[in-house]
Amino acid sequence: MTNKTDGKENQMWGGRFSRGPSAIMEEINASIDIDRRLWREDIAGSKAHAAMLAAAKIISVKDNEAIQHGLGQITSEIERDEFAFSKALEDIHMNIEARLKEIIGEPAGRLHTARSRNDQVATDFRLWVRRACEEAETSLKALMLALTKKAGENADAVMPGFTHLQTAQPVTFGHHLLAYVEMFSRDAARFADARARMNESPLGAAALAGTSFPIDRDATAAALGFDRPCANSLDAVSSRDFALEALSAASITATHLSRLAEELVLWTSPHFGFVRLSDAFSTGSSIMPQKRNPDAAELVRAKAGRIIASLNNLLIVMKGLPLAYSKDMQEDKAATFEGMDALSLGLAAMTGMIGDLEANESAMKEAAGRGYSTATDLADWLVRSLNMPFRQAHHVTGAAVALAEKKGVALDALPLEDMQKIEPKITKDIFSVLSVQASVASRTSFGGAAPANVKREASRWLAALNKEKN
Ligand code: ARG
Repeated sequence: MTNKTDGKENQMWGGRFSRGPSAIMEEINASIDIDRRLWREDIAGSKAHAAMLAAAKIISVKDNEAIQHGLGQITSEIERDEFAFSKALEDIHMNIEARLKEIIGEPAGRLHTARSRNDQVATDFRLWVRRACEEAETSLKALMLALTKKAGENADAVMPGFTHLQTAQPVTFGHHLLAYVEMFSRDAARFADARARMNESPLGAAALAGTSFPIDRDATAAALGFDRPCANSLDAVSSRDFALEALSAASITATHLSRLAEELVLWTSPHFGFVRLSDAFSTGSSIMPQKRNPDAAELVRAKAGRIIASLNNLLIVMKGLPLAYSKDMQEDKAATFEGMDALSLGLAAMTGMIGDLEANESAMKEAAGRGYSTATDLADWLVRSLNMPFRQAHHVTGAAVALAEKKGVALDALPLEDMQKIEPKITKDIFSVLSVQASVASRTSFGGAAPANVKREASRWLAALNKEKN
């Protein structure tokens, strides 16, 4: 890279400048490689703006027609990959305007009346983030559907429930999957909330103070699907909290995805062997032929780093910026695109993995019985049948577990006489609660793990998700 100038002054503000930028200046200043992704939004914004200018008699109907036609031609050029994006023209806004001038000549110069790149970029970017939120909601619903279907199929597949990653109490695989459906539904709602809040149009705020032209901001807002124009011109061009909210929702979603991904990594390990991912979502090892690695799950787990970093990136860029626009804000797009791209890939990969995975019911059930997972059921039986205070029942049960452990047997294999040595009032009826199936079937309290609950919840979610799709 050299520090020479190209000798050409900028065509957009050449009036005040006699020399073009140095090569390094161009390198640090240009954003076209990133913001060219905003071309659809930029053209939509310009079309709405020009139509409004004509309706308000700020430009002629003929000029508006020429602008609409020229922007239409640019659309097909970009779609056909025939558009020459130029770094010298800095960003998507100036690339499109310069091309418009080549196509239609003088009327192109009237498009920027009562507008600045500051309200233009704020508008384009809001439109992009709004769509990204919508897509995240759609992808989350697809993932919820995949989870719900698996949960329905595994409503009575007993598995160990964990706390501290130690065997705690039996649950079902379906119940475990539905826990994630709850999380992802809140994530989708967070995107929907953010989307509703950001749906105000910055267009017409101009550079920062509004304009003296008799523009109609309601008209451009409506044309672009916004609920209303932003009420304060300074806020309109300076705020990026809409992107921060989207990245916050993305970060929370990524955290949920990473927990599920971590569980897939654990469950597919031969030490657990609870699930098998399909070949489509596993990789082999170049040296160890026996391996089936859960690479996709590991990468989804890692994407949380990238997504949370994007949120931090933009928070740090925005922190302490005085009103109104500062060029720092140009960095908003790289961060947001990176975070939202990683999220959409992570959601797609997780949906694929869940849709294809096979649960190993016997391995899960076998594991569910290990680790004295029905000890709480024994204690509850003492409370219910002998009217023992729970604290005392906990103590008695602890002694029974210790004895079973010493004898190397499961709780339900501990002979009645042994139990009666600990608590003489225990009867053989106790064995009815000590199996893992009996344990999980008894968890019928609202929100509990009982298969009957899981079946009901899975059909409730299935109906809700299918209804939304239609
Ligand atoms: N490329 C710029 C951005 O993304 C557009 C706005 C530039 N505004 C300005 N006053 N230089 O932020």
